[in-house]
Amino acid sequence: MPSQIASIKSVKAREILDSRGNPTVEVEVVLIDGTTGVASVPSGASTGKYEAVELRDGDKRRYRGLGVLKAIEHVNTEIASAIVGMSALEQAAIDQRLIELDGTANKARLGANALLATSLAVAKAGASFRGVPLYRYLGGSRAKQLPVPMLNILNGGKHASGSIDFQEFMIVPVGAADFHKAMQMSSEVYHSLRRVLEDKRLSTNVGDEGGFAPQLPANEDALRLILTAVDRAGYKAGQDLFIALDPAASTFYQDGEYVLSREGVTLSPTEMIDYYVKLISDYPIVSIEDGLVEDDWANWSLLTARLGKKTQVVGDDLYATNMKRLEKGIDQKASNSILIKVNQIGTISETLAVIERARQAGWTTIVSHRSGETEDTTIADLAVASNAEFIKSGAPCRSERLAKYNRLLRIEEELGKAAHYPGKRVLYNLERIE
Ligand code: PGA
Ligand code: ZN
Repeated sequence: MPSQIASIKSVKAREILDSRGNPTVEVEVVLIDGTTGVASVPSGASTGKYEAVELRDGDKRRYRGLGVLKAIEHVNTEIASAIVGMSALEQAAIDQRLIELDGTANKARLGANALLATSLAVAKAGASFRGVPLYRYLGGSRAKQLPVPMLNILNGGKHASGSIDFQEFMIVPVGAADFHKAMQMSSEVYHSLRRVLEDKRLSTNVGDEGGFAPQLPANEDALRLILTAVDRAGYKAGQDLFIALDPAASTFYQDGEYVLSREGVTLSPTEMIDYYVKLISDYPIVSIEDGLVEDDWANWSLLTARLGKKTQVVGDDLYATNMKRLEKGIDQKASNSILIKVNQIGTISETLAVIERARQAGWTTIVSHRSGETEDTTIADLAVASNAEFIKSGAPCRSERLAKYNRLLRIEEELGKAAHYPGKRVLYNLERIE
C-alpha cells in the first residue's frame, strides 16, 4: 500500500536564522522510503494580537530572548512521537493531531512555530512522495492561476524606523499579460523609484521587506514618489499598475485615536476613514489593508461600507487567518478581502479552510509573507494551490523576498499554456475597474 510506505519515520527540528538574523524553526520530516520534506517558518514584526503564539525561549542570554529551543524540543519529542508512523499523505489528519496535541486555542503550549514547521514539512514530504510539485499536491488539477503580486517598494512603520507612518506602499501590476511580465514591470518601477529618490537626495537604504525607506514628512509624499517612478519607467499608473497600502493601523493607534506622528496629526476613527476616502479619490489605490485597529469591528464595517466598492478592504491583524474571526468579519461585512499568513494560524489545513471560506463569501485572498522570512517558498505554492488572487512577498529585492517570486516564475513556466494570470479581473468586486 502506498500510504504505508508514506509513513513518517522521523521528525527533527533545528534552530536556523531568519532574514533579520533572529532564530526560527526548521523541521525535517523523513518517510520510511527516505523521502524528505523540509520547511521553516517566518516571523512578523507588526504581529497582531490574535495570532497563534510563536513560542520564544525568553532566555536573555541567547539571542536576546528570541531563541526557539523550547519549540525545537517540542517537535523532537512530543510532536515526533505523536506523528511518527502516520501517513504523510493524510495532511488533514496530521494537522488535526497537532491541534489536539497542543490543546490550546492559540497554540501557546507547543508553539505555532513548532506546529507550522511540522505541518509544512509533512506537506512537502507528501508532495515529494507523490512526485508532484507542492502546488499540484495541495491544489489538485485546478491549480493553475498565478497570483497578482503586490510588491512593497516603500517601507515604513515597524519595518523601517524613522521613515514614514504607514508600513507598506505596494505596486500591483494588474496590467501585465502574465506573471513574468508583472515581475519585469515591477522591477523596472522599483529601479525607477531608486533613481527618483537619488535625484531628490533621499535615502535608498531598504527596510525589512526590501522596499526603500526614505525619511518622508507625509504618507502622500510616498504616493507621489511612486507615481513619478511608474511614469518614468514608462508605465501608466491606474492602468498598468495600481497602488496598494498596508498602513498597519494597529501600530499607530493610541487611546482611541490614530497618531500619524510624521505628519503631526491625530485622527479619530471617522477622520481616519475620511482620510482614506480622500486618498483613494486622489490616487490610483485599489487596496487598503489594516486601515483601522484590529479590535474596532464597528468602524471596519463603516470603512467597508464607504470604501468597499471602490477599493479592496483587507483584514490582516483583524482576522489573523483565524476562522472564528473571519466568520465574524463576514457576518459584520467588516471587509471584502483577507490577508493569509500561515504562521498566524499554525497549520496548512486551517489555512486552506480559511481561504476556502473567504472565497465562498465572495472575498479576495492575499497569501502573504512576514517581515521576517526564510528561503522557504511554500507560500508561492500555496497561492497557486488555492487560486489566491494575490501574493505579497515584499519588494523585488532581498533573496528571501525574491525566492517566492522566483518560485512563481518557475511554476508559470512549468504550467506552460495552462498558466493563467488574472490581471485586472482580480479586482472584480471593485466598481471603478472595467
Ligand atoms: P509583519 O508585517 O510580518 O511584520 O507582521 C506584515 C504585514 O503587516 O502585512
Ligand atoms: Zn499587514
